Amino acid sequence: MQTILVTGGTGYIGSHTAVELIEKGYHVVIVDNLLNSQIEVLDGIEAITGKRPAFEEFDLCDRQKTAGLFRKYSIDAIIHFAARKAVGESVSMPLEYYHNNLESLIVLMENMKANKVSSMVFSSSCTVYGQPDELPVTEKAPTKKALSPYGYTKQIAEDIIQDTLYAHPELKSIALRYFNPIGAHPSALIGELPLGVPQNLVPFVTQTAAGVREKLRVFGNDYDTPDGSAIRDYIYVCDLAKAHVVAVKRMLEGKNKSNYEMFNLGTGTGSSVLEIIHAFEEATGQKINYEIVDRREGDIEKVWADTRLANEELGWKADTPLETTLLTAWQWEKRIRNIH
Ligand code: NAD
Ligand code: WQD
Repeated sequence: MQTILVTGGTGYIGSHTAVELIEKGYHVVIVDNLLNSQIEVLDGIEAITGKRPAFEEFDLCDRQKTAGLFRKYSIDAIIHFAARKAVGESVSMPLEYYHNNLESLIVLMENMKANKVSSMVFSSSCTVYGQPDELPVTEKAPTKKALSPYGYTKQIAEDIIQDTLYAHPELKSIALRYFNPIGAHPSALIGELPLGVPQNLVPFVTQTAAGVREKLRVFGNDYDTPDGSAIRDYIYVCDLAKAHVVAVKRMLEGKNKSNYEMFNLGTGTGSSVLEIIHAFEEATGQKINYEIVDRREGDIEKVWADTRLANEELGWKADTPLETTLLTAWQWEKRIRNIH
């Protein structure tokens, strides 16, 4: 049985990926410092899969502890999710973001090199494209100046990985650029747990439906889009999780075409904020109280993915319908709020 180190594995995307990995027969070791997640997530993973992943609680910036982890486990490949991810917070705490997101990657790659662990999947983001000149956006599109320190950590991280692989061609990596992950596992045993007021659209929608928030604010209806609200490519988190298993397998089986590959992970379809609200209402029967307010600073107008490379090379496609995805988000919200 191959062992996959999942950093940030008690977090939102990491926990869904841990489930997919276990279901595909991998042994999972999670490292997380619980900065933005809770230990109970392990219970959810166990309830779904019947297996509890090994868990180590520490900060990956800690060199000694990370070195100890590689001594303790025989790791075959790494999926590196651990990072701080709040865009707005990164503007007010840039040093914490640069330190955490870059130091953890550097320490991890030093240990890959020292321990001959050759394969790493890296969580990147569509944020590296900024507002693309052409849509849908392909992997060949140039990166634009990052709009936040968080976004810049993803650009720098991709460069750190590429430079390291150039110098050490025995190492390999696949960077996955996620568009907007949403939804929860169909069991409603794991999902997204935003701390405080959600910054992302779908958690705000579900909390509004649950009565936790009075009103959703729609940031802008004067964009150059059919209904005036901004467009994103919302992808079901379980579809996203599956792509990680494919990427890991690709490297472990030596099927990667170069030692650094990068793929967009989206659906290929854009949805506006108003379309999301209406699809949620349709899927769940819940009315959303909302008002139109000014644009949010730093938001781009529209982006959606060209997914052909991931579809063709990985043989992977995000095919869960938006309504089904939104329903899982609502079922998760209901479960954590005890709504029946
Ligand atoms: P999350 O916050 O739910 O999960 C990240 C996990 O990493 C958390 O559990 C946190 O406690 C942990 N962590 C952070 N720093 C750590 C450190 N130094 N050492 C150990 N653990 C640490 O976030 P997520 O939504 O699951 O995102 C996972 C990855 O995907 C991140 O790299 C994020 O930047 C990237 N990403 C997320 C989105 C999104 O919208 N959710 C979009 C694109 C990319
Ligand atoms: C989606 C749309 C908002 C909340 C962020 C990061 C990006 C990536 C994904 C990590 C936008 C609108 C939102 C609300 C609203 N993360 N909105 N009312 O901004 O596309 O991307 O998450 O890499 O880097 O920037 O996602 O969910 O915040 O917003 O109208 O209360 O919903 O303006 O158009 P975003 P989001």
